[in-house]
Amino acid sequence: MARRKVVAGNWKMNMTPTQAVELIETLKPLVASDEVDVIFCVPAIDIPAAVEAVKGTNIKIGAENMYFEEKGAYTGEIAPDMIVDAGATYVIIGHSERREYFAETDETVNKKVLKAFEHGLTPIICCGESLKQREQGITIDWIRQQIKIAFLEVTAEQAKKAIIAYEPIWAIGTGKTATSDQAEEVCFAIRCCIKELYNEEVAEAITIQYGGSVNAGNAAELFAKPDIDGGLVGGASLKPDFGKIVNYK
Ligand code: 13P
Repeated sequence: MARRKVVAGNWKMNMTPTQAVELIETLKPLVASDEVDVIFCVPAIDIPAAVEAVKGTNIKIGAENMYFEEKGAYTGEIAPDMIVDAGATYVIIGHSERREYFAETDETVNKKVLKAFEHGLTPIICCGESLKQREQGITIDWIRQQIKIAFLEVTAEQAKKAIIAYEPIWAIGTGKTATSDQAEEVCFAIRCCIKELYNEEVAEAITIQYGGSVNAGNAAELFAKPDIDGGLVGGASLKPDFGKIVNYK
């Protein structure tokens, strides 16, 4: 069976709760789709309002980050059951901005992935190389290492439900998209790595997205590739163009 496409917006640090509701009202009719799963990953403080605003639609809500402990003295962090109780069902883990600005590592990513599954949240696990790494020719090695560590102790049943987002760092927010061939090459390598770690069934079931300057103009070509199961979209997810990305055909 063909995998369903999954298109997720990553709102990053944009939109107050009030603005979130306004944006959802604008996007609701534009992202309606029977064929594509649609997720809005929003700032934690927007989650309750966003969950309310998407009721009765095809849109699911996700968080952009989560801590790996259950509760306690971790000022400013958000626990998994807070996200679940607020009504979100997905969580982005290990975005490159979190790795760069908030010192997240492959090891903390792994802890968060395990914790997300424990709480029934679907993780959107991010990986990606820098421009320097691409120029050095170590992209595939680097990504395989990120994936192997992220999936340590993740069971096959859990892995089947995971979403991996391949986001080359040099393509994020730069307007420089990876070509569809470059993106496919890495997404295929990720699927091969998952097959090695688990088996064919898991590799065929897992969702692998591309992210990095996805827009209404390039989505169709990217999503047509056999190993690209949709996208993780930053800037364009805050605009009516997001509807065109969801309805890319
Ligand atoms: P842009 O789509 O703005 O390049 O951001 C991509 C991204 O980081 C999604 O997580």
